[in-house]
Amino acid sequence: MQIAIDGLAGAGKSTVAKLVAEKLGYLYIDTGAMYRALTYLVLQKGADPGDEESVFHTLRGMDLQFHPGAGTSSYRVTVNGVDVTERIRHPDVGKFVSLVSSYGRVREAMVALQQELAEGRNVVMDGRDIGTTVLPNAELKIFLSASVEERARRRLNELAAKGYDLTLAKVIADLKQRDHIDSTRAVSPLRKAEDAVEIDTTDLSIDQVVERILALVAWRETHV
Ligand code: DC
Repeated sequence: MQIAIDGLAGAGKSTVAKLVAEKLGYLYIDTGAMYRALTYLVLQKGADPGDEESVFHTLRGMDLQFHPGAGTSSYRVTVNGVDVTERIRHPDVGKFVSLVSSYGRVREAMVALQQELAEGRNVVMDGRDIGTTVLPNAELKIFLSASVEERARRRLNELAAKGYDLTLAKVIADLKQRDHIDSTRAVSPLRKAEDAVEIDTTDLSIDQVVERILALVAWRETHV
């Protein structure tokens, strides 16, 4: 079974997707990490993230690999042999990743890679365009939403735990900007697939969201 989990930045996609994958024993594929890895490499090389040509050139020279860890949901990401798992979460990468992921040729190459990774496997894949573009035939599609204030609080906690000192107002502004770029870009913008189940996570715990998704999986297994 393929499970697609899409939604706004900070709606809880990766936390929830990892737990669902662990419970089911499925492979977890974090597509945001792929766009982040490319953005990291662009910045690290001193290339201009605003220049599509040099971003695409960087992508062609990039050897991106996912190394699954002991559990199904833990993984390391390497770019050209260097472990960048932590570095791709840096706020500077967050600032430019929406721009880098808005280019058509970049998306085309990434989508092909994601489809290859998911081919013939039981997977939980999270991102922005999984239900609409990457896995349009996924058996279960989930769209996670939450208020911008709640998403910003979660993101702030995550970043604070990693030692980054930001204000709530700054995180809200950054999220709004990312939501705007992600949902208005020309190529496969963030939107809910018609057949996706929307879950508003604002007032739900992580466990509650995971339980709802597992219930939907069980329902599909017995009824479809
Ligand atoms: O899920 P995340 O915050 O790690 O994603 C980082 C960025 O990557 C996000 O702002 C938009 C982009 N992205 C995308 O365009 N398509 C995806 N399938 C996943 C992420």
